[in-house]
Amino acid sequence: MSLRLGDTAPNFTAQTSLGEIDFYEFLGNSWGILFSHPADYTPVCTTELGRTAALKEEFEKRNVKVLALSVDPVDKHLGWINDINETQNCSVDFPIIADEDRKVSTLFDFIHPNASATATVRSLVIIAPDKTVKLIITYPASTGRNFVEVLRVVDSLQLTANYSVATPANWKHGEDVIVVPAVSTEDALKKFDKGLTIVKPYLRYTPQPDLN
Ligand code: BEZ
Repeated sequence: MSLRLGDTAPNFTAQTSLGEIDFYEFLGNSWGILFSHPADYTPVCTTELGRTAALKEEFEKRNVKVLALSVDPVDKHLGWINDINETQNCSVDFPIIADEDRKVSTLFDFIHPNASATATVRSLVIIAPDKTVKLIITYPASTGRNFVEVLRVVDSLQLTANYSVATPANWKHGEDVIVVPAVSTEDALKKFDKGLTIVKPYLRYTPQPDLN
């Protein structure tokens, strides 16, 4: 059965460009992003892994550990990492899983047989520190992911994990958020001391609660 939001992400051990890892040990108490790409030595993937490496500090700031995956072997990953570092002016220092037997791809539903019988699609899974799956996005091989959006959604997930809020369309860190319907307006007025803008009884905004 496929993995769904709210499920516990399965643990696994795997060979990677940085040696063998145990997924849960690698994540520790951090948030995790596991993303698959169709194949090594391909152009879109080269830019995606370069972009991920360049955003190292942004992921660290958010306590997020990243891992990539393709079904190619470790030696191929290592050669390709040299190319990524050279062409994208970066240093890839996160593990790339060599999922030759498709064990991890099967656990995470990264092979969509009607798209490709053998290669993984461009999926990305965000996992909370308690190992629950918080987000799954899947792109076709021909479309590179938007890593600004990946950081934005991490910001939203981390905020909504800690406060009774949701984030509106196109929300960015620092903008007003929405009070979830489960909180009554009476309680919201007590809970959100920065104030409430009530547009409709079900549409209530408050300034982002974790900012000074
Ligand atoms: C790429 O990563 O560049 C790619 C991979 C498979 C099909 C098309 C593009």
